[in-house]
Amino acid sequence: MSADDEKPANPGRRRMLGATAVGTVIGAAAGLAGGMALAGGGRPPAAPVFEGRRRFDDQVVLITGATSGIGRAAAEAFAAEGARVAFCGRRETLGAQVEASIREQGGEALYIRADVRDEGEVNAFVDEALAAYGRIDIALNNAGISFSKPMHEISRDEWDDIQNTNVRGVFLAMKAQIPHMLERGGQIIVTSSVNIVGARPQLGAYNASKRALAGLVQTAALEYAEQGIRVNGICPGATDTEMIRRQAGMMDAPDAVWRTGLGVWGRSNVHGLGRVAAPHEIAAAILAMAAPDMTYLNGSLFFVDGGMTSAL
Ligand SMILES: NC(=O)c1ccc[n+]([C@@H]2O[C@H](COP(=O)([O-])OP(=O)(O)OC[C@H]3O[C@@H](n4cnc5c(N)ncnc54)[C@H](OP(=O)(O)O)[C@@H]3O)[C@@H](O)[C@H]2O)c1
Repeated sequence: MSADDEKPANPGRRRMLGATAVGTVIGAAAGLAGGMALAGGGRPPAAPVFEGRRRFDDQVVLITGATSGIGRAAAEAFAAEGARVAFCGRRETLGAQVEASIREQGGEALYIRADVRDEGEVNAFVDEALAAYGRIDIALNNAGISFSKPMHEISRDEWDDIQNTNVRGVFLAMKAQIPHMLERGGQIIVTSSVNIVGARPQLGAYNASKRALAGLVQTAALEYAEQGIRVNGICPGATDTEMIRRQAGMMDAPDAVWRTGLGVWGRSNVHGLGRVAAPHEIAAAILAMAAPDMTYLNGSLFFVDGGMTSAL
């Protein structure tokens, strides 16, 4: 840990969301706050329920990486609005749980195990989804990983893994999905990140992967517009999911300690709203992008970050 990390959180200055930073902040918060309610940014609002809103009735939505986090929240939200959702991820128990929970709520979902790094598995995911639901209207290519390390300590295998998951995985998914959209059009949304406009230390491999996705999105938006396929990227700010909790080395920490630390981190780092997002807030933005009246959205990189990237 550097001396810098031992300084108290400074609202005027960004700090990285990494093991040292969050660990330090959480340590400070746990020690100082001891369970006190947080002031400032506070908690995200609960997901609003719009009774009867079904913007995606009968639409077929494919999602990569929906066993947890943003992908799961999007799968649940699409299904709640009438979509039939086929989704993948590697953790079979979680996949089955997400499918069951959507069905229990009256939605339609199908979990298909697939690793997005593997072309055969991605193709099989798309084929099985087509066999079940007959077509693809919307694809959310969302699966991703991250880790936090200084650049010179990143091994070639770690570099390859993050690029193969975050970039090759999206490329393979698009390559498998697009042929099924050429005749009747469709939409592709790719999960990129706010990191495409501002880097953070120790996220070099991740930053590079998310910037590569901006190139894929913009190119595909130009290549396939004539066939009625619109391609856009969502760029979430910090969102409370397993990915950042794992990146911070806090998977085993009690939830209350994690939330307290994240609250402190959000107040210091998320200019504007002063808190991290809940997954359902990012999912709401994804559904808004995919909504039937968003017909002019193409090649956009849509920032949903509470104001984080608005500050100099
Ligand atoms: N949380 C944030 O602050 C934040 C901010 C900006 C962008 N994002 C992006 O949002 C996306 C979702 O992440 P999250 O934050 O929701 O984290 P998460 O809860 O860890 O979700 C990641 C999802 O990707 C899946 N995945 C990872 N590697 C995979 C692989 N090789 N094959 C198939 N699925 C794979 C995971 O499923 P399995 O583990 O079951 O395979 C999981 O469902 C990522 O692309 C991330 O970069 C997140």
